[in-house]
Formats: sequence, structure tokens, C-alpha cells
Amino acid sequence: LKIAVDRVKAHIDPHMYGLMTEEINFAYEGGLYGELIRNRSFKAEAGYAYLAEEPVYWSTVGAAEIALDGKNKLNDALDLSLALTIANASPEQPAGIRNGGYWGIGLTPDTTYNVSFYARTDGDIGPLTASLAKSSGATVVSAKVDGIGRDWKKFDVTLRTGSSLTPSKDNVFTLTASRPGKLWLQQVSVFGPTYKNRPNGLRPDLMALMAGLKPTFLRFPGGNYLEGDILGQRFQWKKTIGDPAQRPGHRSPWNYWSTDGMGMMEFLLWCEDLNMEPLLAVFAGYALGGDRLATEEDLAPHVQDALDEIEYIIGGVDTKWGAQRAKDGHPAPFPLRYVEIGNEDVFDKSGSYDKRFAIFYKAIKARYPQLTLISTMAANATPSQRPDMIDDHTYGWGEAQMYEHLGDYDKRPRTDPKVFVGEWATHHGWPMPDMKAAIADAAYLTSLERNADVVRMTAYAPLLANLSQVSGNSRDRSMQWDTNLIGYDALKSYGTPSYYVQTMFSSHLGDVVLESSAQHVPNWTSEDGKTFPALNWVATRKDEAGKPGRIQIKFASRAATQQPVRVKLAGVKTLAPTATLTVMSSPNPDAGNSLDEPTRIAPRTETVKGIASEFTLNVPAYSVGVLELELR
Ligand code: AHR
Repeated sequence: LKIAVDRVKAHIDPHMYGLMTEEINFAYEGGLYGELIRNRSFKAEAGYAYLAEEPVYWSTVGAAEIALDGKNKLNDALDLSLALTIANASPEQPAGIRNGGYWGIGLTPDTTYNVSFYARTDGDIGPLTASLAKSSGATVVSAKVDGIGRDWKKFDVTLRTGSSLTPSKDNVFTLTASRPGKLWLQQVSVFGPTYKNRPNGLRPDLMALMAGLKPTFLRFPGGNYLEGDILGQRFQWKKTIGDPAQRPGHRSPWNYWSTDGMGMMEFLLWCEDLNMEPLLAVFAGYALGGDRLATEEDLAPHVQDALDEIEYIIGGVDTKWGAQRAKDGHPAPFPLRYVEIGNEDVFDKSGSYDKRFAIFYKAIKARYPQLTLISTMAANATPSQRPDMIDDHTYGWGEAQMYEHLGDYDKRPRTDPKVFVGEWATHHGWPMPDMKAAIADAAYLTSLERNADVVRMTAYAPLLANLSQVSGNSRDRSMQWDTNLIGYDALKSYGTPSYYVQTMFSSHLGDVVLESSAQHVPNWTSEDGKTFPALNWVATRKDEAGKPGRIQIKFASRAATQQPVRVKLAGVKTLAPTATLTVMSSPNPDAGNSLDEPTRIAPRTETVKGIASEFTLNVPAYSVGVLELELR
């Protein structure tokens, strides 16, 4: 492997690695969003019905009955309530409601849980008891809540677990009374700890895993989640801001209810907390089921909605939507450089995107000329308006198919718009990616970094998956799309081998790509008899002011045996005699990580001695690695 340390092939965008997110696989509800109660607003649907007809995910305790009540609403957003009728109850035999969370409620010792709910009664129901309990019934921790009256009122209480509690997800929440009577409830909520203790915040373990990816941007809110199946189910950002009890929620295209507790401000704070820039996708008049708006008149309110959305993010507090942002708790504008118009408009077979893109592009550019506007189709699909950048999606359905994509950008005309690979992943292993997927991912990333003059940004997709119920009836599953970066249940979480590839690549980002070439590269043969190079690599250099430069050699080896690679560095004066190798390998490449074995496959760090302008690097079988050399 020959590397010309002084010959720069391309400059790398510091935003090369980011995240893509949407509500899929219970990514927010039952995932990142810290709410532990499933269907807190009683609006979730049973299966595919469009209107909730019964309080799904809620059951009764003791002599109680529950029903949805459209006449006793909390407000116009949460326009029904749970009517709880208690026929018989006593301190010894309380009665009320119970919720099992999202496939359980994770409880840990010495932890505070914040319970809140809105309630009213038509009589004297007496104090209620809010409890976290084992699903068998034994109380873990409880507290009394008194003062329920005839008008709607919000109640808050904290529950703190003891130090001897064994962590478990086999828990439920109950709210019970000790007297017969009737009450109405809405927005029944329990939050555990949140990242940076933010109210209405995000799950800390998932935030910590994402921080490990060192992401520089977040593409949101989708994905298909941006568009919805029908126009009315698109992500309507204005309905996702302010008091969570004033957010109506909506059905997501992945077939379950979103409370929209995870709304526009929560996305922006997520960006701020992980030091990411928002990459905002705006609804562009096309829904997945085929609804489309193609005339200027029909699109006008959506163009205005996009302009308002941008103003909410970057407008001064003297603007209408900047003032709303301040009211929502964040007077300072957020950074914003990238706006994507739509999502995968290639599925709109009418060809309306050319016109839709041009309309949005012109309106946004006129007001915000500094923004980079991204098209979701190839540049020749929008002849009326050249995009600033295009978003390519590349899913490898099998490792071999991913290897077929390694040359995608080698011959791309350099005069074409720059590329954001806004969704990509190798599918191998089920339900989550295994080591073969990770190797193909890494091989693909070496090809993207090598073409860093064209490919400016990348984001793996999907990001998150609740693995509580990965198979069975599609209406009951916690996972709608297999192969994701991070998996979790109500208690635990872990990164897949593909996750670790991202951490390795993003934490060794160079500034420039170096010229490199190799002879005698071994091959591997796929099950269907195709051969591909088994060793893929990219060499980069990081030049930090005041520090000696560093060279990164990233590699992906699909070879079944260790490969001694003779590395020759040209154009280099002095090197540190040792280098750091961060490497991940698995003797069984079909293996992956799991909730019970979260780091079975994970990178390790080694010191490599004998570094000079020529040295041998032993590349392990089935491995992904980064060798970092220090220039002196
Ligand atoms: O990442 C899953 C889905 O794949 C996204 O919602 C969509 O954009 C793509 O088709």
C-alpha cells in the first residue's frame, strides 16, 4: 500500500459524519423521548384504525372500568379523556388504571421518576396513589396525590426508588383510588432521568451512545416521517411546539401514534446537547400514499410553513417565529446551514418534484441566500433549478450489494452538485447488523471518504430501534425496519458493530484525503459467485495548527485470514516510531452484539511499533481498523 503523504486528493468536509433520524422502530416513543407511559394521551389507535376507539395499552386495577370520553376533553389538542369509573374501592382494595409502558418500564435503584397527570372528578374521589410496581403487583415505590376537584388540574409527584432495587423492566405504573367514584384523566406521564436533566427530555443512555458517534449534524424529522402516508399525517411542526399537553400528536407512517412530545424544540435541543447542526427537512407537498400538491397555489401554504420553520430556528426574537422560539425557552437562534426539500421524491412518479423543488428553492433562497438547499433526487430530475446539493440514499441489501456501490462516486462528474448520502446501511444479520455488515459499511465509507470532494456529508439510517418485539404481527412490533445502528429495550441499550464503525471513522476524521494505491489486493467471493476486493482503505491527514500532523489509514478487511500489508509512505520526513491502531475484528463474521452481549464485537486499541517510512501492518481477518501515525 503506497501512500503519498504530500499529495492531496480531496478536502474532507468537517460535517462528513452526522445522524439521520425519524420516528420509526419506536425511536422516540418508547425510545429516545424520556416518556415511560405508552399512550399517555389516550389517542393511540388500535392497529390501523384512524380514530382511537378504546384506551389501548391501559388496563384496570380492581373494580374499575375505563372508556374514552370525547365530551370531557382537557383542551382542543387533547380532545378526549380517559373516564375511570370505580364501583368499589377501599384502602385495602384500591382500584384504578395500569400501564405497562413500552414493553415494560425500566426502573433502576436510587432514581427519581417524575409523575404528572391532569385530572378532574364529579364528586369526592379522595387522594389517589401513584405507584411504580412490579408487573406481578408488588409496589416498588408510591406516593399519594390529593386535591382532585371538579375542574381540570395538573398534578405532579416524584417517586424515588430505593438503593436495594434490582434494575429491571418488568414493571408497571398504576394510579388508584381508595373510594368509589368517577374521574377523568389526561396526559398521564412518567419520566425517568433525562439527559442534562431537561424537562420533557431525552433518555441519557441513548444520548451517551450517540455522543460516542461524534455527530456533526442531525437530519430530521425524516425520512418517511416527514411526509406521512397522507397529507394530514405529515410532520406538522407547528403542532409540535409549546406545552406538550397542547400537542395533538399524529399517526406516523410507521403505523403507530406519536404524541409529538418529541417536537421541533426537542429536536433542536438534541442538536445543541450533542453539538450537532440541524439539517432540516421541510415538507414539500408529497405524501407517501401519493397525495401531492403541484400547483403554486396549493403549495403556497407549505412554502410559508417552511419559511416559518426556518425562522423558528434562526430568526431573531423580533421575528414572529423567533419570538415563539424564545417563548418556548430558547431566545438564542440555533445554527442552520442545510435545508432539504422533501424526502425521496423519486417515489413521486408524476414527475412533479422538478416544479415543487424550484418553487421551494426560490422562496427559501430569496429569504435565506446563505442556506444550502438539498434536493432529494438526482440533479437531472430538477432541470428547472439546479440544487446546491443532492441527497443520495444507498441501502445494500446484502454485503455483496454494498460492495457493488464502492465505485459509485469514482466517476461522478466533479461539476455535478455535491452529495449528501443522507441514508445508507448494509443489511446483513437480523434483526441488527452483524460483523459482515460492519465490514461492508466500513468498505463503503472508505469509498465515500476517498471521494470526499464529491461526498460532503453522510448519515447511516435508521439510527434507533426498540428491540422489545422484533417479530410477529406488524401492528404489535417494536421494530418496523431491521438493521439499525443502536438497539435498546426499556432498560438496556447497545451499539452494533456498524455503530462502532461509525465511531471509529468519525473520531479519526482527517482534513484531506491522500493519494494512495495498492497492488495484489486479495479478493473475496460472495455467495452468488461475485468477486470483490477484500481489502479497502483510505488514507487521510489531519493538520492541526501547532501540532504535528497525523495520518489515518482506515481499512476494512473481508479476508478470512490475517493479511500482512506492506505500507510505504512517500513524501514524509520523520514519523513517531509507534502508532495507534484502533481495530475491531471477529473470528465469526456472522456474529453481532445484542442487549445481553452489548460489546461482544467492539474496537480495541493497540500500539504498533516499528513505524518508519516502510513497515508491515498485520490486518486481522474480518476486521475494520484505523491506524493513526504521527508526523514529527
Ligand atoms: O430509513 C428508513 C426509510 O428508508 C426512510 O424513512 C425513507 O426515507 C427510506 O425509504
